[in-house]
Amino acid sequence: MGHILSVVSGKGGTGKTSFCAGVAVALCALGEKVLLIDADRGLRSLDIVLGMSDRVLFSWGDVLDGVCSLKEAAVKHPVVKNLRVLTAPGMEESGSRYSGDQIRALLERARPHFTWILIDCPAGFGSEVVDFALGADQAVVVSTPDHTSLRGAQRIGTQLANGGAEQIKIAVNRVRAGMIDRGDSVNIDAAMDAAGLPLLGVIPEDQDVIACGNLGQVLVLFSDGYARVAYANIARRLRGTRVPLLEGVKLKK
Ligand SMILES: Nc1ncnc2c1ncn2[C@@H]1O[C@H](COP(=O)(O)OP(=O)(O)OP(=O)(O)O)[C@@H](O)[C@H]1O
Ligand SMILES: [Mg+2]
Repeated sequence: MGHILSVVSGKGGTGKTSFCAGVAVALCALGEKVLLIDADRGLRSLDIVLGMSDRVLFSWGDVLDGVCSLKEAAVKHPVVKNLRVLTAPGMEESGSRYSGDQIRALLERARPHFTWILIDCPAGFGSEVVDFALGADQAVVVSTPDHTSLRGAQRIGTQLANGGAEQIKIAVNRVRAGMIDRGDSVNIDAAMDAAGLPLLGVIPEDQDVIACGNLGQVLVLFSDGYARVAYANIARRLRGTRVPLLEGVKLKK
């Protein structure tokens, strides 16, 4: 039975979609069978980042509306074996909001077919984020190392915990040693304290993440940069391996 992980943030643009793509591909490389769900109805983007926008025909809204099966809607990645992507319905496609029961039922329907299900949530704490996040077994809050983003991380972490979520961790993204040294950015210990969450991992600032997202390329195949290594380290930790925080990763000055 698959593990379900929701990927959330307080503020927007912290790196959730990049995290989902990077960690999902890294999990596949370790032999896992992964479903990536785009929960962002307002601004779905996983299909673009993974170079699949011409392939996704049906959304999870279509599955819930009985238009197609989960297997038809969860599209295979063209290159990465064992990776499927289930896109979000557009806001305009369905005026109706799906209930928490429907979303939880969707997740449970998918669970037996995958070893990991990662949910790319929209920023903030909208009602569908709650439904997806509370239907998951664990959550990771992605934050950049600045005070406003960390405050957002702390808020959403607290709200998820109040809603009954367990195993909530933080991933600190776009970290640069130089900025920490100069005091322009919060260091990792302070970030954990500010967010009040245990650390899942640190992802360095890496131009290749931006380039890959724009080109719809898979980071592992495209880049030998450190973000790729950081996502792989996180994938190993999710599987229960103890991996030192910055193993194989150098933070840019
Ligand atoms: N480690 C990184 N290094 C450099 N750029 C990054 C890194 N992570 C993400 N980015 C860039 O930051 C931008 C926002 O990333 P992304 O779309 O993954 O964030 P998001 O949290 O999903 O945003 P939204 O809240 O809008 O869904 C993108 O241009 C992406 O390429
Ligand atoms: Mg996103």
